[in-house]
Amino acid sequence: MLDTARIRQDFPVLRKTDCGELGIYFDNAATTYKPQTVIDAVMAYYTEGSVNIHRGEYDRSFAISEAYDAARAKVARFIHADPHEIIFTSGATASMNLIAMGYAEAVLQPDDVILTLESEHASSLLPLMRVASKTGARIEYIPLLDGGRFDLEAYKNALHDRVKLVAVAHVSNVLGYILPIAEMARLAHSVGAVICVDGAQSVPHLKTDVTGWDIDFLSFSSHKMLGPTGLGILYGKKALLDQMDPVLLGGGSNARFDRTGQLVLKGTPYKFESGTPAIEAVLGLSAAIDYLEGLGMDAIYEAEHALKARMVQGLSTLDHIVLYNADAPTGIVTFNVKGIPAQDVAFYLNANGIMVRSGNHCAKVLVDVIHTPDTVRASLAFYNTPAEVDRLIDVLRSVTLEACIAVTIA
Ligand code: ALA
Repeated sequence: MLDTARIRQDFPVLRKTDCGELGIYFDNAATTYKPQTVIDAVMAYYTEGSVNIHRGEYDRSFAISEAYDAARAKVARFIHADPHEIIFTSGATASMNLIAMGYAEAVLQPDDVILTLESEHASSLLPLMRVASKTGARIEYIPLLDGGRFDLEAYKNALHDRVKLVAVAHVSNVLGYILPIAEMARLAHSVGAVICVDGAQSVPHLKTDVTGWDIDFLSFSSHKMLGPTGLGILYGKKALLDQMDPVLLGGGSNARFDRTGQLVLKGTPYKFESGTPAIEAVLGLSAAIDYLEGLGMDAIYEAEHALKARMVQGLSTLDHIVLYNADAPTGIVTFNVKGIPAQDVAFYLNANGIMVRSGNHCAKVLVDVIHTPDTVRASLAFYNTPAEVDRLIDVLRSVTLEACIAVTIA
């Protein structure tokens, strides 16, 4: 079991929360807080490093380059990949755009099918829609059960030999359901399709094993797993990455080129990393992985699941709350208060010192499935406490439309 009181001492923002200076944070699916070790790693780069990588013939550049390369190896180990299969990007969104423009656009033919879900995030669906319109491929949706639950039988029925790409989030950012990703990969491969997985909401909370699951691509973000912003990761099987062209060209990614435009790119993954990368963010991510591994991913999952169960249990006792994902096994709780717009509820919670997200959470197609345009989302992290959860339930116990309007227009 995690020692949350001790853990909270590791996070400067939580130390302030515990002193009453800052409110309760339940928007961890948007971005997480950062422990001091991550902040220190970023600061150390700027105060003691501050040089570029892989370009300088001097000791400090050698040392920072080595730390950067070691961070790549650490990310690879964390998800059970090879370091050559890890590309650093500017975020999960950039990773998904790279799959779409660098892979899908090159391989898809007219009438090929991209199979996806209506619950997917805009950062997955929009690049895929663009690729479909450029290539003549079609997007098909795996029918979701009522309420947005995934159905393996529906997925099996939706697979056919024109499906060339299956693109799904391992964990939905709105509903928090976990997909059976290894089984999905096996089935995708059985019809000759490649599976690309959005891991933005799963990698920070569950053990990840790209090799064991045999998935082809995985995108995720540093800032949702305690690391710095501005950094994403794309995992791809080496053979697939080798056949892809980079979307960006520039310094660092080429072995040589001449005045006629003859270009020889470096190998994978370097050919995808043009320009000076977010060096401090990569070093910060390395510290974030150390922190997560120090706690243990199983312990993190259990702690978040227990907090979620407590929140669901408390909210279920309130007749004016509609819960959309009571049975989801991750730390995302999505609900509405009957008769009050989600955004007004979020403003009311904010006025009571509780931070949540409201709206469609960038999953704009899902509204047709869950039959509501907007919801309130409380997303938990292992450093949240049962007392914080109880406070949310208490504040919602007495919420009224009039009180929300008073806060909204104040
Ligand atoms: N994708 C992030 C979220 O779900 C920003 O809030």
